Amino acid sequence: MLAVMSDARSPSGPQSPRPVVVLDCDPGHDDAIAIVAAAHFTDLAGITTVAGNAPLPRTTHNALVMRDLLGIDVPVHSGADRPLVREPKFAPDVHGASGLDGADLPAPTTPLDGTDAARFIIDTVRSNDGIWLVPTGPLTNIALALRLAPEIADRIRGISLMGGGSFGNRTVMGEFNIWADPEAAHVVFDAGVPLTMAGLDVTHQFLATPARVDRVRALPGQLAEVLADLLVFFSATYGEIHDDGALSGGAVHDPLAVLAVTHPSIFESVDRRVDIETHGILTRGMTVIDERTVRARAAPNCAVLTTVDADAAFDLIHGAIAHYSR
Ligand code: BDR
Ligand code: CA
Repeated sequence: MLAVMSDARSPSGPQSPRPVVVLDCDPGHDDAIAIVAAAHFTDLAGITTVAGNAPLPRTTHNALVMRDLLGIDVPVHSGADRPLVREPKFAPDVHGASGLDGADLPAPTTPLDGTDAARFIIDTVRSNDGIWLVPTGPLTNIALALRLAPEIADRIRGISLMGGGSFGNRTVMGEFNIWADPEAAHVVFDAGVPLTMAGLDVTHQFLATPARVDRVRALPGQLAEVLADLLVFFSATYGEIHDDGALSGGAVHDPLAVLAVTHPSIFESVDRRVDIETHGILTRGMTVIDERTVRARAAPNCAVLTTVDADAAFDLIHGAIAHYSR
């Protein structure tokens, strides 16, 4: 049954008190927007970085740049520089070699706070009740934390991740974050933590259309200019890799994993058992979503987001950017 997510998680609108979140990311154009959303709408305990869209030194550099642009005092810890088992694969065709091509970025002015993201995640979960983990890159750091300290699974309020879906973008069935480290995704989907999945079905509803990019650019200051430039680049690469007219802008995937925690009422979801294909020849990295009605199916482990009110989501993102625009 389809559920509007204004459920027990929160009344409509932001939770009160604000959810405590660790954002685990691989910036990445849409990760950069996720950082803005997490900074504005959550009690952001930290940002951890992982290899994904670009090699770890770049994703970490980009997270530090975003911290400076927002002027926030949030620790940044780097983590895994490669998947658990496989060779690293990056996404320069979508994000450029730097992971954040398309804008003039200032050099970071603040140092990295640590280089052991898994340990930071473990310590932060142990010292906070009801924390949310929000991964928007490959799930390597989260899997390492769960492997090193399996008991933290019981203390985590939920993992709201961007990844997967009923179709892929790297392969027919493989979405980048899951496909890049399917063994890590398997650990996470099997951990017994409540999961929320912002897969491609929902993130392809949230596009950086020219009108939305113009609204960002109309905001004052460096942050808005940088983000507008990033979104122009991101939409251009989406245009290049898709059929003409298939998408009216880049799909701004990652902030939806944040908004699913802070503003669940703008989403609809279905509860499903989701498992990760780690061996398939054609389907490695597929999120196998059990849509059957047979009674013998396994119990759901995941709220699979199916729809988002994209205009409402953009208004929230625009408001978050405006908050830091000066
Ligand atoms: C995901 O892969 C990356 O390119 C994006 O940042 C997003 O997290 C979409 O498949
Ligand atoms: Ca990402």
